[in-house]
Amino acid sequence: MRLLEVDNLSKRFGGVAALRNVTAHSVEGETLGMIGPNGSGKTTFVNIVSGHVKGDVGSLIFGGVDIAGMSPHQLAAVGLCRTYQAVRVFSALSTQKNIDNARLLLAHRGLDHAELKELIEWLRLDRHLDKDAGSLTLFEQRRLELLMRLVLKPRLIMLDEPVGGLAVTEVIEMIKLLQELKGRCSIFVIEHTMRVIRELANRVIVLIAGEKVADGPPSEILQNQQVIDEYLGTTHA
Ligand SMILES: Nc1ncnc2c1ncn2[C@@H]1O[C@H](COP(=O)(O)OP(=O)(O)OP(=O)(O)O)[C@@H](O)[C@H]1O
Ligand SMILES: [Mg+2]
Repeated sequence: MRLLEVDNLSKRFGGVAALRNVTAHSVEGETLGMIGPNGSGKTTFVNIVSGHVKGDVGSLIFGGVDIAGMSPHQLAAVGLCRTYQAVRVFSALSTQKNIDNARLLLAHRGLDHAELKELIEWLRLDRHLDKDAGSLTLFEQRRLELLMRLVLKPRLIMLDEPVGGLAVTEVIEMIKLLQELKGRCSIFVIEHTMRVIRELANRVIVLIAGEKVADGPPSEILQNQQVIDEYLGTTHA
């Protein structure tokens, strides 16, 4: 079943065409990847779908519902949330308080105590609950941010560079966590680290200069000559 359906999405920032007529969909249960050079519109795509930025034209359907114009809060209520390229946690608050705050967003249908405990242990945050989030490592902060979305029980989580800035061993651990995350919800993932795309994505979309130039299984897309010439063969990936 189609989960997210984006049709003819365009966005300009002054003279910059960040997205040009992008049509894309995701299927319930799949992990959909998005790759492309810096500035090709990937974060803008997530910003618009997740209600942080308004598209100029285009339609957005999620779970059969028209979500154009919905706020991030309303989107969380229908099961769509995202993480940020530059991790966002409340640095001056404890890990526990960050989690409590995240749960407040949808207090009426939060997790029960056992479910929350299971999530905290899965993301190995149990030893860090009393620490200020700002004192955690980047990897721990990325796990905390992930948990802050999972308490909302999303149907689709959009991850903007989940391994950005992580050390190689941490990348391997994060891939394992995201592999396990597949059993919890559908995933949309932007990455420059092709290992993540190769090991996790069922399908991958390529954006170049705001346009979708390819859409297919990673094994095919990562061999695509245009994708190699304009992205993979450059220093970006
Ligand atoms: N709020 C904004 N105001 C003005 N220009 C913007 C804004 N957000 C994005 N842009 C521009 O839109 C284009 C696409 O940016 P975007 O952040 O979506 O790229 P990206 O594919 O996520 O890049 P990266 O891989 O570096 O994260 C860029 O030219 C960027 O400068
Ligand atoms: Mg980006």
